[in-house]
Amino acid sequence: MPRAQARVNIAAIERNCARLCSELRGGASLCAVVKADGYGHGAVPSARAALAGGATWLAVADAREAAELRAAGLHEPPLLVMGALSPVELQEALAAHADVVIWSERQLADVVAAGGGRVHVKLDTGMGRLGTRDELEASRVALASREAEGVELVGVMTHFATADDLADDRHFAEQLQRFAEWARTLKAEQPELLVHAANSAATLRAGEAHFDMARCGVAIYGMDPFGRDPAARGLEPALELSTYLADVKACAEGDSAGYGRQFIADRDTFVGVLPIGYGDGWRRGLSNNADVLIGGRRHPLVGTVSMDSVTVDLGAEADAQALRGQRAVLIGFQSSERITAEEVARRLDTINYEITCALTPRVPRCYHRDGVLSESPPKSPPAPDAHDQLGAASAT
Ligand SMILES: Cc1ncc(COP(=O)(O)O)c(C=O)c1O
Repeated sequence: MPRAQARVNIAAIERNCARLCSELRGGASLCAVVKADGYGHGAVPSARAALAGGATWLAVADAREAAELRAAGLHEPPLLVMGALSPVELQEALAAHADVVIWSERQLADVVAAGGGRVHVKLDTGMGRLGTRDELEASRVALASREAEGVELVGVMTHFATADDLADDRHFAEQLQRFAEWARTLKAEQPELLVHAANSAATLRAGEAHFDMARCGVAIYGMDPFGRDPAARGLEPALELSTYLADVKACAEGDSAGYGRQFIADRDTFVGVLPIGYGDGWRRGLSNNADVLIGGRRHPLVGTVSMDSVTVDLGAEADAQALRGQRAVLIGFQSSERITAEEVARRLDTINYEITCALTPRVPRCYHRDGVLSESPPKSPPAPDAHDQLGAASAT
């Protein structure tokens, strides 16, 4: 048994995507966001599963992530790089046949200088990050993109700041209205223009935000964008994090476990040692602040999370010794018990996204379909032209 392992159910990702597609209004497409290594789930297997589940577009944050997907054989699906790009990264993204996001004439000039490419113009309607706040500038860049040599205006977009905050109606509604009004004229002039705005939260809360495409990340992995129980919205968590009980030791009243003696037994008990720690992404803030499922029951994590191990209180019953070697689930199901990434996030006062993204490369990802292990995901042969392009990209 590996010391720690993330088991990813690719069938769950497929079903989550099918569920999101069924929600989309007016024939809108699903774009699966697989940046940050598929939110920790593995970008390539997640992308394949999302496409099998009905997504037709992929999105990432940077050029290297785009090149990784193309190099893995995902040549066909349109691919959007959503993040900021330096001129060198822009060339890499375009060489990977990815669409890029622009919002200034200078960026358009960079695309032309790089030999042209497919662009999406971004209006900042209230996120205050990437994009221009100036509608006139956004329109000017869009019109100039249509005219520019080798450039294709594929889409216009925005991003919501508060879609995940169900208590906020105002800012979300204002962003939506501003974007819809701005995009309307451009869409009338170019009917095939792809208008897109929604992330997972906006997709699930507001059909008017779907436009021509929804860019969903967290929900495709079965996590709830509102931080609540994913099951309530028909989402299935795809990732299970587990380890095993490497040792069980008697701990007399007054004995301690871990750095700083942050756990001191107030009664005789048994303490189990699990080989997972903050070096795996199981954060130190979970010291004395998490539960672990062993033998179908919750056990409290006790003491300080160290780099490579944690300790759990197994209780005083003598049969605790027999648990040695058993699987321990930190995120996932055992019997009727369940620990979600949302629960772990609440304990850390953060969001579910950060829990799965934090898992480090030391944790092997293993893929299965509803419990049937899959070999390493099948790879399509690289298309010759994409291969050449990627070679060219790495030479620049
Ligand atoms: C521009 C943009 N669109 C869509 C998404 C997907 O968001 P979510 O994971 O909340 O669905 C992100 C993620 O941060 C993003 O930055």
